[in-house]
Amino acid sequence: MKKLFAERIEGLAQSDIRRMSLECARVNGINLGQGICDQPIEPIIKQAAIQAIREDRSIYTRLDGIDELRQRIARKVREYNGIPCDPNGEVIVNVGSTGSFVTACLAFINPGDEVILFSPFYGYHLNILKVCQASLKYVTLRPPDWSYDAQALEAVFSGKTKFILVNTPSNPCGKVFTRDELTHIADLCVKHDSLCVTDEIYEYILYDGRRHVSPGSLPGMADRTITISGFSKTYAMTGWRLGYTIAPRPFAEKLAILNDLINVCAPSPLQHGVVAAFDLPESYYTDMRRDYQVKRDMTVEACRAAGMTPYPPQGAYYMLADFSEIGFKDDQEAARVILERSGVAVIPGSSFYPDPKDGRRQIRLCYAKKMHDLEEACRRIRALKTVLA
Ligand SMILES: Cc1ncc(COP(=O)(O)O)c(C=O)c1O
Repeated sequence: MKKLFAERIEGLAQSDIRRMSLECARVNGINLGQGICDQPIEPIIKQAAIQAIREDRSIYTRLDGIDELRQRIARKVREYNGIPCDPNGEVIVNVGSTGSFVTACLAFINPGDEVILFSPFYGYHLNILKVCQASLKYVTLRPPDWSYDAQALEAVFSGKTKFILVNTPSNPCGKVFTRDELTHIADLCVKHDSLCVTDEIYEYILYDGRRHVSPGSLPGMADRTITISGFSKTYAMTGWRLGYTIAPRPFAEKLAILNDLINVCAPSPLQHGVVAAFDLPESYYTDMRRDYQVKRDMTVEACRAAGMTPYPPQGAYYMLADFSEIGFKDDQEAARVILERSGVAVIPGSSFYPDPKDGRRQIRLCYAKKMHDLEEACRRIRALKTVLA
């Protein structure tokens, strides 16, 4: 029998995240597994999308997105991210930031090209890089603050490095890269003539007064950085599938063509709708941060009460927790038993590491949930202490 599947998809399997969501639905549990973020969307955004549908704004858009949206994105990128950005030629609206990452990988990676990835990593990053047949070089982020060893990073960087992937704030560990760390990364990119691809989808979700720093805003980086972000997380619209890429003009031109080939364009009425997000007041962002910080602290406290060692995130809305003290055999058993005994779904930690052993004592929890669901989940997690005794 002929080999049917392409080599590039060898080894791809349903992720633990999707599997846990299915198992959670089966037992009607509370899902702290997948980063679904079930908050309501702001009414002005919904109204704008409904109006666009009523007005039949329903045909293909420009390959890089509608004018008004590119203009509002470019202004935000200049003001919030500090990256010079021209809406005509340096912004592409994609089908989710996942769409942005896929086009960037297709545009830059030949099979065997080296890409540096921090671990723990976001599974989609890993798998898309694998589908593109990148040769991966890992650098470990170490708890509790998820710092990296400067020499370890320098050791994997070389003239062969096509790009380094930064994710700040990061999923799954909630690391927010500091200006000093990003300056170190930028210096290495310049030294080795490498690109930086940076996923900043959680850029507004920061704790304890931290500030977001975009690699593309650092000296020497604007010409070699592909900045990826989107609307899914900031505006709680993961299913709208709207994201964007910021890149210097010669890169953006190619990325826009790929966007056109793969998706033609992002959904047009939703592009019109999301323009309204830029009219939200500053308080929207401060309230969101405050709300997530309360939820983070609740989740940290619940894990501690259960006997785990949580690593409080600096940003985003996921947390890794070490359960060694509770005594499960491994992370798979921990996730299975926690779901069975408490009806709360969490993700086995090994999904986030190149060597599964590194995540064997960890689980990931996502606290982007409605308050009453999270309260109930935290009550059940706390109760694990007695349930498992
Ligand atoms: C780091 C990271 N990037 C991208 C995404 C997906 O974003 P989008 O909905 O814009 O495709 C996620 C979702 O969980 C994520 O955690």
